[in-house]
Parts: sequence; C-alpha cells; structure tokens
Amino acid sequence: MPKLILDKFAHGGDYNPDQWLAYPEILKQDIELMKLARVDLLSVGIFSWAKLEPEEGVYDTKWLHEIVDRLYENGISVLLATPSGARPAWMSEKYPEVMRTVEGGVRLHHGNRHNHCITSPIYREKVYQINEVLAREFGAHPGVKGWHISNEYSGYCLCEQCQQAFRGWLKKRYGTLDKLNERWWTGFWSKTFTSWDQIRSPEAYGEMGLTPMKVAWRRFVNDQTLDFIKNEVAPIRKYCPDKPVTINTMGFHYDYDYASFGKVVDFFGYDSYPSWGSGDDFETALNTAFTFDFVRGFSDQNWSLMESTPSQVNWHEVCKLKRPGMHLLSSLQAVAQGSDTVMMFQWRKGRGGAEKFHGAVVSHDSSADTRVFRDVSEVGRALEKLSPMLGSKVQSEVALIFDQQNRWALDAAEGPHKKQQYEKTLFEHYKALKLLNVNVDVVHAEQDISRYKLVVAPYLYMLLPGIAEKLKAYVSQGGTLVLSYLSGMVDEDDQCFMGGFPGPLGELCGLINTETDALYDWDKNGIAVQGLKGMREKYGCGFTCALIKTTTAKTVGVYTDDFYKDTPALTVNDYGKGRCWYVAARGEQAFLNDLYSHVADEAGVKRIARELPRGILVSRRSLNGKDYTFYMNFSGEERTVSGLSGTDMLTGLPVSGQSVLPVNGILILEA
Ligand code: GLA
Ligand code: ZN
Repeated sequence: MPKLILDKFAHGGDYNPDQWLAYPEILKQDIELMKLARVDLLSVGIFSWAKLEPEEGVYDTKWLHEIVDRLYENGISVLLATPSGARPAWMSEKYPEVMRTVEGGVRLHHGNRHNHCITSPIYREKVYQINEVLAREFGAHPGVKGWHISNEYSGYCLCEQCQQAFRGWLKKRYGTLDKLNERWWTGFWSKTFTSWDQIRSPEAYGEMGLTPMKVAWRRFVNDQTLDFIKNEVAPIRKYCPDKPVTINTMGFHYDYDYASFGKVVDFFGYDSYPSWGSGDDFETALNTAFTFDFVRGFSDQNWSLMESTPSQVNWHEVCKLKRPGMHLLSSLQAVAQGSDTVMMFQWRKGRGGAEKFHGAVVSHDSSADTRVFRDVSEVGRALEKLSPMLGSKVQSEVALIFDQQNRWALDAAEGPHKKQQYEKTLFEHYKALKLLNVNVDVVHAEQDISRYKLVVAPYLYMLLPGIAEKLKAYVSQGGTLVLSYLSGMVDEDDQCFMGGFPGPLGELCGLINTETDALYDWDKNGIAVQGLKGMREKYGCGFTCALIKTTTAKTVGVYTDDFYKDTPALTVNDYGKGRCWYVAARGEQAFLNDLYSHVADEAGVKRIARELPRGILVSRRSLNGKDYTFYMNFSGEERTVSGLSGTDMLTGLPVSGQSVLPVNGILILEA
C-alpha cells in the first residue's frame, strides 16, 4: 500500500488556479505568498473538469502542467485531484443519465456538484478517461505526492440503473428470493416478493416498512460507491502505482461506512469546520476531538486534515471569524490527534460564485499583511518546529466502538424512540472517556480490540456475524467491556435474536433484558449506585431504561423510581479473566464521567494527567519512547497547568512545574 511520504508536517490546502488562468500576475504572486506562509502541499484541480476537458474527448492539460511544474520548482508539492466532484455542462446535456435521480423519480437538472449517478456506465467511463489522462501525464511527476480522489462523495441515486444494480447486489448477497424473503421477514404485511423486479429502494412514496431492506439499501449504496471509486482509482493504480490515493471524508456523515473505504484508498482525509465561538469552545473542541478520533479509526494509521478554514466559512448559520490564537490551536488539535497535515479550504478567495466570502489564506486584497495571513504563517512555522515528532502515532488504551451499520439499523428499527440519537449518545460516552485525560480510539465493530484495556460499546443493537464471539473472547482474556441498553437485539438483517435479549451477549453480561422503556424528555428516573469508589449515591437517567433480570451479574446500581424502582440499572459480570459492565439506562453526563473514571482505574488505564483545569484538552502522540503531549486551552480564559516536565516544542525552552496557558493557548511538551 503506497504511503504519503512527508519530510515535515504538510501545510497547505485547496488551490484552484484554474479559476485564475486569465490573471497570470495572480498566479505568480500566489507562489511568493505561499512561500511566505510556508505552504508546501496543495490539493489541485478538484473542480477543474470543464477546464481539463472543455469539449468531449478534447483534453487541455497544458495549464495544469505549467502550474504543477512551477509549484514544484518552488518546493511545493500537490495532491492531484480527479475532477469527478462536478461535471462539465456538455456532459449533462449530451448524457442526461449521468445526472442523479431523487425521491419520486425526479431527475435533477444540471448544476451544483456531488450529484451524479453512481451506477451510470457513461459517467464511469468519462471519469475513467479523464483520470487516465491525468494519471498518464502526471503520475511520474516528482511534484505529485499523491491523489485526491473526487471531492466529498455523498448521497445516492434512485434511477432505474441504480435499481437494477440494487437487485443484482441483492442476488449476490442472498442467492435466492426464498432466502431474501426469509431474511427480510416478508410474511409481515404481505410483503413476499415473487420476482426480483418487484424490489425497489426504500422511498417515502414506496416501501418504508421493511426494516432489513432499509439497511440493505444503505449497504448497497456503500458498496456501489466503493465500486465507483475503484473505477476512479484504476487508471491511477495502473500509471502511478507507487503514490497513495486519498478521499476527503466528512466525519460522521451518514451515507457511508467509511472504514470499509480502506479497501480502495491508502489514507483518509477529513474536512473539519467546527463552529468556534458559537458557545462553549471546550464543548466544541470535545466534539471535534470525537470526529478526529473517529477518522483516525477508519484505518490504523495517521490521517490528514484535508480542509479547514483559516478564518470563517460561508455556510454556518453565523459565520464567525476565528478569534486570535484559535487558528493555531484548532490546527494543532488535529495534529495532536494524529493528522500529519494541516490543510485549508482554500488558498485564495474566488472573485465570484457561492464561496467568494469563505475564509481563505489570501483575500481579495492579495495582501500578506492581514491577521489571517499572519495566523496561517504562524501555523506554518509551528509545523516546522514539530518535525521531531513526524512518524509518531496516537496510542490508546481505551476504545469506543462506533458502528455505522448499527447506526443505520437503529434508525431503521422503528422504536423504542422515533429518533435514536446514536451519534449524540456515543458522544456522551466519548466525552466521559476523553475527560479522563487519555487518548481514545473510536473504532468500528470489526476492528481488532485485543490491545485495549477498556472497550466501550454502547447501543450495539445489531450484531454483525462474529462480533459477539469477539467481545466474549476479549473479556474472557482479561479485557474490560462496557455494554448498554438496546444491545444484542438483532442480527445483520435486523431480525431479533430469539431466546431473550441481549441475544448472544446474554452470557457475557450475565443478565436478561425483559423490556425496554422509552421516556419522554420530561420523564426522569434515577440510578442509586451501590458502593462504587468515586461515584455519588444517585444520578439522574432517562430516555431509554432497560428492565433487566440478572443471572450471574452483580447489581451495583438500581432504579430509584417508577414501577421498576429497586430493579437493576447498573451491573457487572465477571467473565473469564475480565469483566463486563452493563449500563441499563441513559444516565446523565456526570454518571458516565464518574462511572468511566471508576472503571478505567479498575482496568488499570494510565492517564496522561490526573487532574486538569476545566477547558484544557490533552492528547498525546508517541514515537520511539518519546511522548509528545499537547495541552490545549479551549476554556476561553487563562489557565494554569501544573505537574509538567519536558521541553516546550514551540519555544524550545524547558518546562518544569507549572505553565500558564493564555486564552486559546497551546503547549506541546516533548518528554
Ligand atoms: C467542503 C468542500 C469544499 C468547500 C468547503 C467550504 O468541505 O469540500 O469544496 O466547499 O466545504 O467550507
Ligand atoms: Zn442512478
């Protein structure tokens, strides 16, 4: 698998010179400004198709050669983009089938971006051809470090070709209609299929009652997109086998199970646009930390902050400027959590179009003498100082399982809540873990978990084949696992496990889940905790409360109210050499914070710091016995951190004892 080879942390972003070909003086000036800002890596050509193929089959790559050459001569490399994120108008006009069809069979008109049919053979062919031209001409260019494939893939198409492809996918998965009918429980509401052609995608105007079909459709879209990407990447593999390909992902984006994209790309990019200044920045930082740890979990290697804004965006409800210090702090947060690049959208603001007011390194005044330009240059200088930690990785003893297929299944499930809040709930668990001042890996269900001391897998409603066995093996060999309500209920086709919940996890948890109560927002219950060190006597809970009967588990917390008062709400079961905790209800944040503090200590999890003032986020990378620890002040106030020892990588000065971090300040210690 080709790797992104860097000799320093890369700094740069999206560069769209194709919009400026009529302004040669601007292009010249760009290079000088890039050097000033210490920019050395650019994603080039993301939306250049209309310039690269102005007429069908007529390619113009001269301008791109000139740009890539000139950048290279000036020490700047590129991730060359394939342009399939947006089509030239001639293509939609000549081949309407390339345009996406949406609900109700409506085919979109030409326009916007990220809206092609993922099945259309013509679109695939056109993409292949343009990519082949690029790969052949640029594959060997020393200034091309890798390939940026398309842009932010998203969504799906509902046209007849896609419906046909869905049926083909189902035939492969289920073999026969009998099998599909059995697995989809089609006896329900007389849904038995007697021909493959009767099956269509789930749609508001059609079938929405077959929950296994909704999950199957999501899986199909995922696989079809993977197949689309495979076609995109094929010419690059052919002409440029030694350079890595990446895609820019969107974190908790709903449409794909990104972890599976590791089959076709070599590393992952992520586009991050938090709303700094919209409230409590520490909360925003924790939320951002969750996405960073999630993206890192797509593969077992470092990732790339592919887009971020140096100042404001143009699409938030309120497009606030980054406050002084925030650009450095937020950029280095990505590095703290495993990114090897700090890239921005975009290098220069366009003169026109929808994004002309989106933050960029260079504004319409073309000046280097701006606050934003100075902030960006400061990041460039900081990244150079971090060179000794290049190659380091985030090492964690704690993992949280976030399973995208489970998320789809939960949302399709129809009950006990209309909206299940998987992401929001998992963030509550993540936050409690991150507040222990440890590194946290957010991993998918199929990843190897044997190296962790503590694994948290809340809300694991659907168990893919092999997952229950894996969790059991993990605990029996000494691991500590935390499970919750609504776990182990259905198999991979959303069919309930017979014989009681949590299905194949019952023995591991040592209990039976007899009923599940859903509470209105104004309904509250409580958990009375019995003798757990560091925990209060009582916490609030709500939303979902499972009623359970223990078999071998020990009850360490009971409900405080309602008809299930005094029945178990928190249990722990010794299993082999390890322990499995079961959290029966959605507890308030303080409950999770205190519970995980207790459980992590019991599991022997080492903390980077025991106590930190509120608002300081800590994260660590390590390499060859050296630790690089990032203390990041998102509190909005000055903060003093104590118990420190090491060298401040940004100043080169020794630090021992305490250090004062200003508002939006960051300290990176090498020790
Ligand atoms: C996305 C896209 C970019 C740009 C930015 C603006 O991440 O990939 O092309 O539109 O948003 O924030
Ligand atoms: Zn289609």
